[in-house]
Amino acid sequence: MSIIFSFPGFENITNHIASDLQITRGKMEIRNFPDGETYVRLNSPVEGQQVIITCGLDNPDHKIMGLMFFAQVAREMGAKSIGLVAPYLGYMRQDKRFHDGEAITADIFSGLLSQIVDWLVTIDPHLHRHKKLSEIYTIPAAAIHASDHIADWIKSNIARPVLIGPDAESSQWVSDAANKASAPFMVLSKVRRGDRDVAVSLPDVAAYHDHTPVLVDDIISTAHTMIETVAHLKALNMKPPTCIGVHGIFAGDAYNRLISAGAHRIVTSNSIPHKSNDIAIEDILAAAVATMIRE
Ligand code: R5P
Repeated sequence: MSIIFSFPGFENITNHIASDLQITRGKMEIRNFPDGETYVRLNSPVEGQQVIITCGLDNPDHKIMGLMFFAQVAREMGAKSIGLVAPYLGYMRQDKRFHDGEAITADIFSGLLSQIVDWLVTIDPHLHRHKKLSEIYTIPAAAIHASDHIADWIKSNIARPVLIGPDAESSQWVSDAANKASAPFMVLSKVRRGDRDVAVSLPDVAAYHDHTPVLVDDIISTAHTMIETVAHLKALNMKPPTCIGVHGIFAGDAYNRLISAGAHRIVTSNSIPHKSNDIAIEDILAAAVATMIRE
């Protein structure tokens, strides 16, 4: 028997998984005390059950305590196992010590999360130097891909698309989505000089002036990567591009700055709730959860 709970903001995804897999939808309460500390209460019995919690780990510092309290109380109330559905998995980017003394937070965070839950399902985690989640997660961890859904969205919404990946890391999503959408694609190169300082190479779009550029990346955070690329396309007199990110973090006013830079439209999956969400990924999450709870 399984029961699935939701952190605030992930109710739609959770309800969808519950209904797809015919599992009970659990009730919980999570809020902050006036001093900022976290209060968690389970309002559904979990004894003997496989407990699943949906909690995207954008803004992870804020959520990790609640997740830890949830898992601990669920175990104290007799849960057989705890699985995490994290549509976005944070702390995947600092996977190396770039400068002396830096914490490799991808390793530290994965170690912490592996102590809190028994398995994990996520979508397109930022795997760069690590090729598989199992290289940093010791618990069963499934990384599923949104590229089919991105390709479907492009096929239904864009006539004559040319897909552009802003950096080498994006080639995995762009090439996959382009092949599935039967569209041409190119991958640029990027040098990141700081959190908000990136240089992206010029796209060679001479053959594609009658196409609509579609930028595809895993994460839109500060949006500087996309803004740089949009600026190049504008200078090359291309049509205003559509920008697709699997995960729309949109730090600060990133969304508005990307629109002001010339993006025609910004589209993201619903891994992180945002007004740009137009690619629904609940079905692939549900399929991955089904595999985890069967095993
Ligand atoms: C980095 O390698 C990722 O694939 C994205 O390109 C990056 O996270 C985007 O960040 P930002 O929006 O801050 O430029």
